[in-house]
Amino acid sequence: MNKKDWWKEAVVYQIYPKSFQDSNGDGIGDLRGIIQRLDYLKNLGINVIWLCPVYQSPMDDGGYDISDYYHVHSMFGTDEDMDELIRKADELGIKILMDLVVNHTSDEHKWFQEALKNPDSKYADYYIFRETEDGNPPNNWRSYFGGPAWTKVEGTNRFYLHEFSEKQPDLNWENRELREEIYQMVNYWLDKGLGGFRIDAICNIKKRLEFGTFQPDGEDGLRYIGDWVLNQPGIEVFLKELNERTFRLHNSMTVAEANVPEELLNQFIGEEGFFSMVFDFSYADIDVPDTGEWFRPRQFTISELRKNIFDSQKMVQEKGWGAVYLENHDQNRSVNKYLPEKEINYYSKTMLASLFLFLRGTPFIYQGQEIGMENIRMDTIEDYDDIATHGQYHRALKAGLSEKEAFDIVAKRSRDNSRTPMQWNLSKNAGFSNAEATWMKVNPNFTKINVTCQQKTDSVLRFYKKLIGLRQESKYSSVMVNGAFLPYEAEDEDASVIAYQRILEKERLLVIHNFQNCESMIKIPEGYKEKAIGNYDREYLGETCYCLKPYECMALYKSQ
Ligand code: GLC
Ligand code: CA
Repeated sequence: MNKKDWWKEAVVYQIYPKSFQDSNGDGIGDLRGIIQRLDYLKNLGINVIWLCPVYQSPMDDGGYDISDYYHVHSMFGTDEDMDELIRKADELGIKILMDLVVNHTSDEHKWFQEALKNPDSKYADYYIFRETEDGNPPNNWRSYFGGPAWTKVEGTNRFYLHEFSEKQPDLNWENRELREEIYQMVNYWLDKGLGGFRIDAICNIKKRLEFGTFQPDGEDGLRYIGDWVLNQPGIEVFLKELNERTFRLHNSMTVAEANVPEELLNQFIGEEGFFSMVFDFSYADIDVPDTGEWFRPRQFTISELRKNIFDSQKMVQEKGWGAVYLENHDQNRSVNKYLPEKEINYYSKTMLASLFLFLRGTPFIYQGQEIGMENIRMDTIEDYDDIATHGQYHRALKAGLSEKEAFDIVAKRSRDNSRTPMQWNLSKNAGFSNAEATWMKVNPNFTKINVTCQQKTDSVLRFYKKLIGLRQESKYSSVMVNGAFLPYEAEDEDASVIAYQRILEKERLLVIHNFQNCESMIKIPEGYKEKAIGNYDREYLGETCYCLKPYECMALYKSQ
């Protein structure tokens, strides 16, 4: 995988380490567990793993609060286990991406501890501290998880900035020495043979500090922080330097968690871009309002979803390469988000799979997505571990919702929906762990949804595997990877059909998705005879008017 753009051919599998496989019976997933499951992943056909954070951390935000970048958390194993995982995966042709969290550290990081103790130490300038005369916070920004973005150092009038939780103080990228420490750490990991990084909250590293009281936009008297900390002018200097000093030297794959406005996209993912690709939020967050309040979910239509996907595809292909995904550890399960509850079944799940895996860009599959895992329903708010879920719940109560209303709404969107243990088989704890209790509840539906059951029959898993195989190694591979994206808009088209083409010289794929639980007619241009894949066992005989079954999907191919 030394080719310059090797990552274009990648199919990525995202692992949430705490919930993938427990190897030592403590109820928590770990690195040796992942090593045990490498054969499964190889067999699935993926060739890159993105590992959510496994660094030392008090785990206040699922490991996105790092207290030591150089060592693995003992709950996940040892540093040697990590080396072994990188080596064993490599032997199978699988590259590992780690999560790079450098917008903030944990408050338990030694830099922050030093900074707290001694305001004159050099570490104080690694973070963003402000002293106020009156003892009130420097401004009324709201952190992303709710509550003020400034926390007071006990017994002083000194505050530190945290865009996320108060246990995640923001780093000060203006400080050159800090930047040097970061580059050194990134290279330390890349030298071990990592494929690259998924880069957390990277659009947030440049802050436009302004003080005072801004017009509140919520019942809490606070104001959304994004306008001061997202994609601020000057960020390009840091991102360019980061790339030149680290990733570029290793031909790394980098995927930035970054909602980048169109005018900046070229700098991010163009020929000389800072990253290989970025995640786009426009369709995964289609149900979240701009204020980030899950408890006021946005209703959306299939036409809107189609528009968002198409706009994103068109925009990204003009500038460079993209990453496509249905799920990750910050989302609820995609089948629950995009499908009406009563219509969640084999057909609708496989249709979603096809909709995403045929898009242009590197696909990211989140653990359990390939077997169609679904949201979990917990009993009380205390059952949720996710810090954001609690933040949203409290904001919902403040906004006047009753406890029950707040719980119902927040439960649907909770990030814990995707953080429940992987469902492997019918044995205890779905084969995830032989502990008495697992760190998070196993979804009781594991008796129906698990890997072992799906190995045998026509299943969501088989469908994913087939799709991955088509992309990785088939006569359709080059058009699936390199083909241009073109929306397909037939006359009188049903608003619930999402169809598009991929075009590479004479080769063409037409991919059609009937995003509804009833039949629909679609016009198909002449010349298509070959069906590459479909979720109904039906032949396609070249009809120019074709009646799609409920949630039917199919990909047609022609080469002249
Ligand atoms: C990113 C991560 C999310 C985390 C946040 C703060 O959005 O994906 O899980 O809570 O950054 O690090
Ligand atoms: Ca364990």
